[in-house]
Amino acid sequence: MKNTCFLSAALLTAILAALPFPAASAQDPPGTNYDESRVGTFELPDPFLCRDGTKVTTPEEWKQKRRGELLTLFQRDMYGVMPTADCARLASKFLDEKTVFDGKAVQRQVVLYLNAPEKTPKMNLLIYLPANAQGPAAAILAPNFMGNPTVSDDPDIIVPEVPDATRTKIGEPVQRGAKKSRWAIEKILERGYALITVYYEEIDPDYDDQRQNGVHPLFHAWEDKHNIPKQSRGATITAWAWGLSRALDYLQTLPEIDPAKVAVMGHSRLGKTALWAAACDERFAASISNDSGCGGAALTRRNFGETIASMHDMIPWWFCPKYATFVADPNLLPFDQHELIALIAPRPVYIASASEDLWADPKGEFLSALGADPVYRLLGTDGLAGVTEQPPVNTPVGGTIHYHVRSGDHDVTDYDWEQYLNFLDKYVRGK
Ligand code: GCU
Repeated sequence: MKNTCFLSAALLTAILAALPFPAASAQDPPGTNYDESRVGTFELPDPFLCRDGTKVTTPEEWKQKRRGELLTLFQRDMYGVMPTADCARLASKFLDEKTVFDGKAVQRQVVLYLNAPEKTPKMNLLIYLPANAQGPAAAILAPNFMGNPTVSDDPDIIVPEVPDATRTKIGEPVQRGAKKSRWAIEKILERGYALITVYYEEIDPDYDDQRQNGVHPLFHAWEDKHNIPKQSRGATITAWAWGLSRALDYLQTLPEIDPAKVAVMGHSRLGKTALWAAACDERFAASISNDSGCGGAALTRRNFGETIASMHDMIPWWFCPKYATFVADPNLLPFDQHELIALIAPRPVYIASASEDLWADPKGEFLSALGADPVYRLLGTDGLAGVTEQPPVNTPVGGTIHYHVRSGDHDVTDYDWEQYLNFLDKYVRGK
């Protein structure tokens, strides 16, 4: 039996290797392009070209004019308007704390109420602090996909509750430690960083409910007051990013954490979120996007892997309704994703791809980094540090903008974390 499986797998591998370009996977909608020769030509918007036709030539013009203009466009046409912090009434409650990893770290649980004194919506923060830190630690805030208990085997990690759990990932029985391979917790702590995670569906459940659950109700009065058009109201990625900013509000009050050194990190849809969170909230010291793909780091104008049309079919609630008007022709978007990266400048940003994760378009992710490079350089940093070609697998490159394509599939591995920690050491902690 075993041998039969092995043979058929080998045969399949041989057939796939003989194809002129990688085959589509089962999830891919018909027509998904994986052929580089069929990407077509497109012109990327010039990040320096302002709406009034003038061009940015100085850091001041970028900061005072163009950055705000681009942020407004991304809010209007793609993610929706980011509500202000005062839509929340924050209160925190300490739940428990213990030492873990042979005394090397403290594991703490805190619940953050977002509409106190109401008990919902709320976020359970799982906080790891390095035990022997010399002063406040740099930190990584990284939301998780399946619930806090899935990042570690620890039996005391609280299982989150979400509205209508049958429709969210938490509706499935939570398997403690099921995703721990994606969380190099001990390594992160050994390197002196604090790690904070939160289950993303506690912020906003990941299905279309017409913006009625999660944190969305907290936005409605503010959106009405500011006459935000329905077409441009903050969608789910904005809700997740807003929740991460509220977590940051809280983290900045902790004496164990350096408030100026909190990086935001996310994988896949949460990589899109990590980029948008850092673009909107300049308190994030850095952003790390792992395999974020279309709607994240990858260029939208490149017809390769996931497209705005497939996102519209499968996950329209992540974006505001106005985004759907660009499905027919993404070239009409007044920006592309290199300008999302540019919104994070001059703060350090890491964009990571995986060689087999073609759905996320590794090359499009690299080209986005390259497209943001002029803005990083105008602002006095080294950007991609002179790199102009996508590097071979497992070869991290760049400076303030860093990039790698790891061998393998859509995932977060120890290799990825190793690179992120090296990067944060250099660009956030200045070691
Ligand atoms: C789907 C979706 C991607 C997303 C990914 C994920 O594949 O099409 O855009 O990044 O899910 O978040 O896991």
